[in-house]
Amino acid sequence: MTWLTSLTIAIGLVCHPVVAQALTPASASISPAHQQRDAFVTDLLKKMTLEEKVGQLRLISVGTDNPKEAIREMIRKGQVGAIFNTVTRPDIRAMQDQVMQLSRLKIPLFFAYDVVHGHRTIFPIALGLASSWDMAAIAKSARVSAYEATEDGLNMTWAPMVDITRDPRWGRVSEGFGEDTWLTSKIAGVVVKAFQGDNVTGRHSLMTSVKHYALYGAVEGGRDYNTVDMSPQRMFQDYMPPYKAAIDAGSSGVMVALNSINGTPATSNRWLLKDILRDQWHFQGITITDHGAIKELIKHGVASDPRDASRLAVKSGIGMSMSDEYFVRYLPELVKSGAVSMQEIDDACRQVLNVKYDMGLFDDPYRHLGPAGSDPADTNAESRLHRLEARDVARKSLVLLKNRLQTLPLKKQGTIAVVGPLADSQRDTMGSWSAAGVVKQTITVYQGIKNAVGDKATLLYAKGANVSNHKGIIDFLNLYEDAVQVDTRSPQVMIDEAVQVAKKADVVVAVVGEAAGMAHEASSRSNIVLPQSQRDLIAALKATGKPLVLVLMNGRPLALVREDQQADALLETWFSGTEGGNAIADVLFGDYNPSGKLPMSFPRSVGQIPIYYNHLPSGRPYTPENPGKYTSHYYDEANGPLYPFGYGLSYTTFSVSDVRLSSQTMKRNGTVDASVTVKNTGSRAGETVVQLYLHDVVASISRPVKALQSFEKVMLQPGESRTVTFTIDKDALTFYNARMQQVVEPGQFDVMIGLDSQRVKRGSFTLL
Ligand code: BGC
Repeated sequence: MTWLTSLTIAIGLVCHPVVAQALTPASASISPAHQQRDAFVTDLLKKMTLEEKVGQLRLISVGTDNPKEAIREMIRKGQVGAIFNTVTRPDIRAMQDQVMQLSRLKIPLFFAYDVVHGHRTIFPIALGLASSWDMAAIAKSARVSAYEATEDGLNMTWAPMVDITRDPRWGRVSEGFGEDTWLTSKIAGVVVKAFQGDNVTGRHSLMTSVKHYALYGAVEGGRDYNTVDMSPQRMFQDYMPPYKAAIDAGSSGVMVALNSINGTPATSNRWLLKDILRDQWHFQGITITDHGAIKELIKHGVASDPRDASRLAVKSGIGMSMSDEYFVRYLPELVKSGAVSMQEIDDACRQVLNVKYDMGLFDDPYRHLGPAGSDPADTNAESRLHRLEARDVARKSLVLLKNRLQTLPLKKQGTIAVVGPLADSQRDTMGSWSAAGVVKQTITVYQGIKNAVGDKATLLYAKGANVSNHKGIIDFLNLYEDAVQVDTRSPQVMIDEAVQVAKKADVVVAVVGEAAGMAHEASSRSNIVLPQSQRDLIAALKATGKPLVLVLMNGRPLALVREDQQADALLETWFSGTEGGNAIADVLFGDYNPSGKLPMSFPRSVGQIPIYYNHLPSGRPYTPENPGKYTSHYYDEANGPLYPFGYGLSYTTFSVSDVRLSSQTMKRNGTVDASVTVKNTGSRAGETVVQLYLHDVVASISRPVKALQSFEKVMLQPGESRTVTFTIDKDALTFYNARMQQVVEPGQFDVMIGLDSQRVKRGSFTLL
């Protein structure tokens, strides 16, 4: 049936024109707490000069551009509202002291930082966290991070990053939770609640700033900072829900994306910042630009000069500017000339004051600092780390991609050769946003294996190769810091040494992949195979005939067709953080049975990108059994991924029964239960993720061939069976139609349940 039929159920309009409303609604619907806050802020605004209001809109990073002395002066004049990149209690306290002692109105600063996958203790990168499909583990990582960050005096984090990512060329896929909307939205809510706690004023609550609003993950060609152009259906169906989920979970901050959307930069996008965020989603918190984004409006070609850029940003709904002086420099004059109204300045300033109020800073500016004498003697003390938590979460994030003839788990005996440029690299094990993590506190794979085997086995080590032999790439990675240590021996000498070591061993564990800086901001790649230096090393190791275990360390899906053929076992470990090496050893030796599942498809080659499991059907689908020339396929490459979304092996095996449905039909407001029985058919206890996918067979617009709608992670003892039941209701069947109405349409829905997105059992029901 189509949307033209009278049975179509329109749930609500989304893209209707709306009139932007002020941040403080005059309605009686606001809570008493918010009324109190609004009264306080209104009163404060009355006392502030224009310059002081504008000063609140400025967020600066302490560093070479802004040395501490310059900041002291800004604080005295009320020209700064918040600070980022200052991460110790003494430093933060010194600045808050200056506010209290030097400034006229003593409006506290707030302090923010990129607490993305850990603070002092580093957890796996976000893509790794998503691979755990374990909400308790993900929440634990955010709780610990919030605890550590607030112990250091911080008030806000630039996280979570919930951009949907379907292009592994983009280095920032490492910071997100993958390609799926449902999974990312679920994690977004969990992470926000875990960071912020029950009450954002709490001693260990860290306010979140969900980013990058919006659609940053869809930059063309996977090239960072590039443009985004997208249909409204895809935007609202696939890309926007995670931001909304974070806001619904209470995120008080939103970081605005650097990219443009359909021609309008997010930073000057009134529709995005006011109509959607404020009027439709009722967001009451703060919008903060990304780094230097107001300046960039000129380069985007939508502002003629700095003054124009400032005008455009504030009028579009930006509350705070990160790392530029434009607001402070131009807004006072723009108000005096009438180009910007005092109401617009008040609205922006209110955003900043509201979050400071919500952080409890007006009650106690030292809320996350405590008395001066209580500062830790050593900020980086071992006792301040949460190693147990980090190890537990890290091992849950590992994904077993291949395990031929049960190569893994390894035995703690004989001789084990550990090789590869990443085998003993502390820096790379921590990953891309390991902001306050300490390199030398990180456990590498080599160290983890050593810890695991003790004196039960002989360990041999050789680096075998540099991360890359390409000077340009190494120079790029070492541009701002000495991130990658280059062994100056010739590639052949290094390979020869590794081969000698391999020949003496019973098994070779090669740790290969990307340096952390290869999967980061501004780290886009046009090819996603392993660097040639490492491919040469793997080929030489393979030629020894020894069992070859590849431990992959990388921040994006890689094209691994060749490695999949060469390796006996492949373990995807992402960048696993402070305890990464111990966690990886836990899995390599079977002390922990892996259960991670991929949150992004792994392509066979870069030419398949974008590749994602929940694509729309084609009018000329390709079927391998009956290929046909005029069908949608590549003649030089298979269509499907090497490893699909949701995929990951275990040391045990599982069976999934046929799908059982509680009914063949579903009423509009009813539900249908879909069940399978999952059995552990192997000889070890293990966990797996049972995944529910749905497909709307005939709808008014094409719907994805399948889309994740729920999952359950189950632990089963050998021989144990468990029935897993999913309740499907109309929310799972809702989509945006051609007129951007949210609808559910009657007709047939396919139900697919499996342990990855490809191998599924099917059933179907009809929505009446
Ligand atoms: C990034 C943000 C980050 C900010 C502050 C920007 O360049 O895009 O994700 O939070 O810098 O470090």
